[in-house]
Amino acid sequence: MDTLRGKYIEAVTAAADEAALESVRLAALGKKGEISALMATLGKMEPEARKAAGAQLNVLKDEIDAALRARKTALADAALDERLRAEWLDVTLPGRPRREGTIHPVSQVTDEVTAIFADMGFAVAEGPQIESDWFNFDALNIPPEHPARQEHDTFFMARAEGDDRPPHVLRTHTSPVQIRAMADRGAPIRVIAPGRVYRMDMDQTHTPMFHQVEGLAIDRDISMANLKWVLEEFCRTYFEVAEVELRFRASHFPFTEPSAEVDIRCSWEGGQLKIGQGDSWMEILGSGMVHPKVLSAAGVDPDQWQGFAFGMGIDRIAMLKYGIPDLRAFFESDLRWLRHYGFSALDLPTVFGGLSR
Ligand code: PHE
Repeated sequence: MDTLRGKYIEAVTAAADEAALESVRLAALGKKGEISALMATLGKMEPEARKAAGAQLNVLKDEIDAALRARKTALADAALDERLRAEWLDVTLPGRPRREGTIHPVSQVTDEVTAIFADMGFAVAEGPQIESDWFNFDALNIPPEHPARQEHDTFFMARAEGDDRPPHVLRTHTSPVQIRAMADRGAPIRVIAPGRVYRMDMDQTHTPMFHQVEGLAIDRDISMANLKWVLEEFCRTYFEVAEVELRFRASHFPFTEPSAEVDIRCSWEGGQLKIGQGDSWMEILGSGMVHPKVLSAAGVDPDQWQGFAFGMGIDRIAMLKYGIPDLRAFFESDLRWLRHYGFSALDLPTVFGGLSR
């Protein structure tokens, strides 16, 4: 008995894993195991001897069984400890952003422009990109013979065969949103309308689709002076410089009277654009006092209400602020370009917290 005990307890202790432990169990206590075989011999013994040997064998069997269980638990604990050590993870470490996606400069600048005008009380208005020629042209006092209505400037949508109504167009500017906003909300009104516009044009600074932001402010006494202040305030905040100087140049748009194109003072020293200083002027937008016919077309009484409108190229002011030389690259979806010029998704532009920081 002592020999058996010594042999199996030692084997249990030496078992390095569950498989080894199982072979020890089978060798001792399995159906064909050594202890089981001895048990089978009990039947042939004298009653006295059987009693003594049976009791001893049972004790031995229980001892080996207990040792097997204890060893099994110890092995499982060791395995778990090993896993915990190997798979250890410090959840207090800061996250590592993958930086796969960035905010496109057009989205960034749209957010910046929206934040600045929201701060001045302008709401955001929207309109469709496929527009009726009435909203895009007629309501804006653009006559049928106007160059913008010629085939080579505007994308016209095809009508079904036999449908003689004038074709819809891909809107050529955001100005139709002026009409929609006034027709919807009436006066007084203060809105901007950022969005996509389409013209047949393609070179370093023109793409067939680009972005504009329209501005519209109508009330009883709004004048060109208000327009000038709003635009100066906008440019100072947008270009993040202490002072800007704007120059209003007389111009012509069918939907404003008087009309002005607005230039901003800048310098190009060493090929580096600086806004707010220098001897150069750069055109940044078109503007004017909303034409009485445009107010009427939108259902606003021109004898009661007046105000200004302006239209500005979003891509253009993005190129100026962020030093992006070629407009076409904006729309090529080149990941390298997007990583270089893109913005962090987590930094939302605000007037108080900083626009581009
Ligand atoms: N719609 C004009 C353009 O596309 C810009 C503009 C808007 C001019 C509003 C005056 C007033 O160029």
